[in-house]
Amino acid sequence: MSRIVVRPLVRPLQGSVPVPSDKSIGHRSLLFGALSRGACRVRGFSYGEDNVATLRAFRAMGVTIDDDGKGELTVHGVGLDGLCAPTSDLDCGNSGTTMRLLAGLLAAQPFSARLTGDASLSRRPMGRVARPLRARGASVEGAPHPTRKDEITAPLVVGPRPEGRLLAGLEYRMPMSSAQVKSALLLSGLYASDPTVLWEPLLSRDHTERMLSALGVPIDAAGTMVRLSPPSDRKIVPAFDVELPGDLSAAAFLLVAGAVVPGSAVTARGTGLNPSRAGILEILRSAGAALQIEPQGDVLGEPFGQVTVRGGALRAADVGGEVATRSIDEIPIACALAARSGGRTVFSDVGELRVKESDRIARVVEALRAFGLDAVEREEGLEVEGQPEGALRAARVASDGDHRIAMTACVLGLLGDGDTVVEDADCIATSFPRFVGTLRALGAELEVQT
Ligand code: S3P
Repeated sequence: MSRIVVRPLVRPLQGSVPVPSDKSIGHRSLLFGALSRGACRVRGFSYGEDNVATLRAFRAMGVTIDDDGKGELTVHGVGLDGLCAPTSDLDCGNSGTTMRLLAGLLAAQPFSARLTGDASLSRRPMGRVARPLRARGASVEGAPHPTRKDEITAPLVVGPRPEGRLLAGLEYRMPMSSAQVKSALLLSGLYASDPTVLWEPLLSRDHTERMLSALGVPIDAAGTMVRLSPPSDRKIVPAFDVELPGDLSAAAFLLVAGAVVPGSAVTARGTGLNPSRAGILEILRSAGAALQIEPQGDVLGEPFGQVTVRGGALRAADVGGEVATRSIDEIPIACALAARSGGRTVFSDVGELRVKESDRIARVVEALRAFGLDAVEREEGLEVEGQPEGALRAARVASDGDHRIAMTACVLGLLGDGDTVVEDADCIATSFPRFVGTLRALGAELEVQT
């Protein structure tokens, strides 16, 4: 297991860097590529471990995926009814998106499959996807959750669909905003007898809706409601070509690093700008960071562009409500921003962080305290008192196997008064395999020790 030693910055961060391709869109490109009728080209694949778990799962279900090893894949779609029963477990690794989206897809197949995950994924709640899938007639069995009564977790055994019948239509008010649950239900809805209509409390990322719509699959999305009618044509998903946009969730670590170091100028190129994901840009602006966003186009309904941030004085600005939903994966790194902002930042409505790759509220508060900051846990949020001046106390942080905690600690380490050590840093490869190299390209000094 490797650790990263982060040296205090001696000069501001400078540079223009690419970011890994969007993880969420990467999963969905593989998935809809597999369900298409033709050869789909997916360019800019990141090889992040989460996306690779999805790739392996489709190969195990008989989908041929050519890989040139340089990020260009050709997915030979088998159509809605062409997947084969896997001969062994589908290992989703650390990836909740792989497990929940596959659960939706597998619920409608004529075979069953077993979905497994690593220790972190085997603690995450799966009842949220199992319950509505069962309500439409699917078979989804899970292991008892280690700490929560009435909750299940991985391994999941999903399918086969009821013999001789289609899954039923579904009208469902989701108890939480979740793109993984929404997408699982829409995927199963492609195989149902009647429409799928979903309402979320607040709109979660809408990549599935955008991709289906860009591929010509009729889907109505209005605010927090989405409606999908089962297609009559089994060749509904056409072959497509996509150059994946960059991942704003990965770019966020670089942008916050630039924002908290006065004199820095950091540009993330070709970054996804989907508004349902872009809350971090509003958080940066509210904190007073100088941002420049240059739209560059869109691909499969997804806007992307270049984002530049300049470091300077920051002020505390509370985060909650729909902005919190649109930046849920960025809250840990937004805490590093808060750590450098004058005043107390209150994060609310982020209870979902407790069931991510780790309990992110607990882990980020622990990390902030290790850097000498005043941070307090709340049931559904946290508070951070900023220290805008002077070096932070260098720290030793355990990531708990959570990539976003590890990367947040690395960014805080740049502000340390000595070397910061981030333990258990291999997890960064789940989403940002070139994180260390990219920070180095901006002028940071980090050492990887194995
Ligand atoms: C994702 C949805 C979000 C997000 C995750 C990726 C997706 O999870 O946190 O990193 O690609 O659909 P929830 O659906 O649990 O909100």
